[in-house]
Order: sequence, then structure tokens, then C-alpha cells
Amino acid sequence: MIDGKKVLFSGMQATGNLTLGNYLGALKNWVSLADEYECFYSVVDLHSLTVRQDPAELRQRARKLLTLYIAAGLDPEKNCIYYQSHVSGHTELAWILDCFTYMGELNRMTQFKDKSAKHADNINAGLFTYPVLMAADILLYQADVVPVGKDQLQHLEITRDIAQRFNAIYGDVFTIPEAYLGKAGAKIMSLQEPDKKMSKSDENPNASIYLMDDPDTIMRKFKRAVTDSEGCVRYREEQPGISNLMDIYGACTGKTSEEIEKEFEGKGYGDFKQAVGEAVVDTLRPLQQRVEEISKDKAFLDSVIKENAIKASYYSNKTLRKVQKKVGLPEKIR
Ligand code: TYM
Repeated sequence: MIDGKKVLFSGMQATGNLTLGNYLGALKNWVSLADEYECFYSVVDLHSLTVRQDPAELRQRARKLLTLYIAAGLDPEKNCIYYQSHVSGHTELAWILDCFTYMGELNRMTQFKDKSAKHADNINAGLFTYPVLMAADILLYQADVVPVGKDQLQHLEITRDIAQRFNAIYGDVFTIPEAYLGKAGAKIMSLQEPDKKMSKSDENPNASIYLMDDPDTIMRKFKRAVTDSEGCVRYREEQPGISNLMDIYGACTGKTSEEIEKEFEGKGYGDFKQAVGEAVVDTLRPLQQRVEEISKDKAFLDSVIKENAIKASYYSNKTLRKVQKKVGLPEKIR
């Protein structure tokens, strides 16, 4: 609790171009929860190092991501929006938690398996211990709730396991966090292979809608999206292509699947794809405009970065000191 409010933590990697999946699965929910909780939203730049990055590009993407958080509607006066690498408590706690995490647990992580298959020439130790840094992110702020997309649930589960293990030894040190999944959009799938999630790292640009895509590109990608053979707009597991488009339309308009089915009764995929494309364009247009505007105000962004790193350091140090004491590290002489 901070000032009587429960705490929320979440983060995104500044790797690749953000997709509609990142927005509908995470960022949009962050904005809807911001008033209710004391919020920490991090640009998790340290996590990005698990895959080789171009240094200049990473710096630029990280700043753009931070700008996007603000553009999406997160007020940096009320929400702590900061770079993970500016708060050293993340890596300090991660080391301690490494010593309370088993190799067997980390070996079971599907993201580790996927990423090591994809980057077979660079299966580094950071990729393996990635979930422990993520656990440190969350536990450092004693977060009650963590809004994420479905693909991150396994990492949330290991975070809870590590926290419970630590608490069982040392008493109630960590708050046990809960995942928060939005009603719609928790798993947006690829537009080309709807059994795969929409991903920043997909090599086929037609598979993903990027948040900065212009209206023509968005409409074209939806026109080319893979659908099913039934020819009607109905939500069915056997129709992953059309169900995914319905999820996207629902998340953008707030309509339920039943409402969407009714709206498009007797209409074909062409009409529906057109409507989905337009709903996405309408959702992204204001976001893109605000990104442009905010990006121009360098002094404002710099002050957000500076002030919020101080705020995050303050809260994270409280937990870190407590943990260091519990495990028996000597206190600093001041
Ligand atoms: P990342 O950067 O891959 O994704 C950011 C957020 O977007 C969600 N997401 C999706 N949601 C729905 N459909 C999709 N296709 C889709 N793709 C991505 C993700 O679930 C995530 O919520 N490890 C995390 C970053 C992280 C983090 C944390 C998150 C680091 N520390 C602490 C929460 C708390 C990641 O790589 O997310």
C-alpha cells in the first residue's frame, strides 16, 4: 500500500515495433486502472539486452516507448513512468532472488524455450534468468496487481512462487501479486497465422499491426488477414482467424461477441474486415498524434525521466533494504 492505495506494476520491452497486441493486451488496461492504484510503469530496457540490440536504436526505442505510455493517457505526475535501468534496485534484488529460484523452474518457461530456439547462437544466461528480473521488478514495489497479456501469465506464476518461497523463510516480506487480464484483447493473434500470437519480432510485417502504422497500411493488412472457410462472422474456436478479428473489434469498440455477431449477421468477411480496420484506425489515430506532440517537448520528457527515477528509487530502496537485512547482508555505515 502507498498512501492507502494498492500498488500496480507493469512494464514493456523496448524491443522492435510495438504492436496492437501490446496496446490492447496491456497498455489500454493500464490506463483504465491508473486512477484506482498507485502505479509504476517501467520501460524494461534491461530485459531487452537478452537479445542483441543496436545501442543507438535501443535508446531511441526506449524513449519512444516512454512517450507512448504518456500518449496513451498515463499522467506522469500521478503515475511513475521510468526506465528500469535508472533504478539499480531491480538488478540488486534480481541477484538475491536468483538464489531462491531453481534451474528446473526456469527451464520450464515457454518464453525461454521459444527465444532460445529463435536465437540459437545466443542462448545467454540473461535469457535464462529473465523471469527472475521480472519478479524483482514486481516485488520491489510490493505490487498487488500486474496487468499483462496472457503470454506473461507463466512469468507471473513464477514470481508468486519465488515470493512465497522467500516469505516462508523470512516472514511476510513480499506482497503476493495477482495478474490482471483485460476482458478483451488478452491474446491478440497474428493476422497471417492466427494460431500464433501477434508479436513485435514476427518477420512478416503483414502479420502484425504496428502502433505507428498509417491508416492505409492498417486497412491493407486487415484486407489481407487470414480468415476461415465458413464465411460468417461467428466466434468459434475452430475459426481462429475470424475470432481474432472479433477480439480486436471488440477491444476497440467495447462490443461483446454477441453484439458483433448480430451487427454482421448476413454480411460477409469483406464488410467485417473493413469495419475492423476502421475501428483500429480510429483507436490508433489519436495515440499517434499525441506521440508526435509529446516527442517534441524534450525538456518535459527529460524532467519526467529524472523525477520518476527518483520516485521509483525511493520506493524500491525500502523493499531492497528490508530484503538485504532479512538475508543477513551487513548494513551500510552512513
Ligand atoms: P512485452 O514487452 O513482450 O509485452 C508487453 C505487454 O504486451 C502484452 N502482449 C500482448 N497482449 C495481447 N496480445 C498479444 N499478442 C500480446 N503481445 C504482447 C504482454 O503480455 C505484456 O503485458 N516480460 C515482459 C515485460 C516485463 C514485465 C515486467 C511485465 C518485464 N518486467 C513486470 C509486467 C511486470 C514482456 O516481455 O512484455
